[in-house]
Amino acid sequence: MVQVFTRDQAQAYVADLYRRVAERWEERVMQSEFMTHLCDGSLPLSVFRLFFRNFGTFTIEINTMVAASYQRYLHFFRQYPDLMEALGEKIADEFIHPRPPGHVLLVLQTARALDIDPQEIYTAPYLPEFRCRLDFARAVLYEGTPAEWFALSSNEEMIGHWAGACYTALTTHYGLTPEQVVYFSKHHEADLEEHDEGVMGHGQFNRLVLQRLLESGQAWERPTYGIEYCAMTFVDLFGVSLRGIMDVARRQRLVPD
Ligand SMILES: [Fe+2]
Ligand SMILES: [Fe+2]
Repeated sequence: MVQVFTRDQAQAYVADLYRRVAERWEERVMQSEFMTHLCDGSLPLSVFRLFFRNFGTFTIEINTMVAASYQRYLHFFRQYPDLMEALGEKIADEFIHPRPPGHVLLVLQTARALDIDPQEIYTAPYLPEFRCRLDFARAVLYEGTPAEWFALSSNEEMIGHWAGACYTALTTHYGLTPEQVVYFSKHHEADLEEHDEGVMGHGQFNRLVLQRLLESGQAWERPTYGIEYCAMTFVDLFGVSLRGIMDVARRQRLVPD
């Protein structure tokens, strides 16, 4: 049996989940060796380059999963035309702004500034520590429930805040211009605020969907997965991705042992 929440209960539940996800993000991501050194300017740019090459490749694939969520969870979205419309806009946003193929152009603009070959972003395999996060998302999308997927998607709001921190670090300590790090400013905006003539902030959209799932008694969870686990694991795996970068940096002697 799935509990049916009132609107207030659902809102409070989602707010509490996001508060805990933010705490976990602070601990596993922002306090990581990679992020603390990036933010104080002591991370070699070569290590950030290694990160962005893998992250850029990751973004291409994760965005196609967001698009696939429309088909996968259509049974839910067709009950709520307002959410269906917002999801359509969100997907379009990723694939047509600033022009097709979409946000990947922003990734490439920042990649060029970091001297990364665009071909690598498109086609190079990525580190297992990035692959595992992506494949966890894929497993939740295809085998999981909508509530688990939209719990995992709470990470998108965290990415918005994190992108702001990356933007500040790169423009303050590394001499990159706002145009060069447009990937980060754009995602700080898109994930946190309404943008591009009325597209809902991506974080707000994910909150609303999870709320509606709870209110309508459709927030199914599986034993061993569930809302809490999927949200937290996706955070933890970002921490794993960042540790993976530091491991490679040490092996390549980009940082001292
Ligand atoms: Fe994007
Ligand atoms: Fe987004």
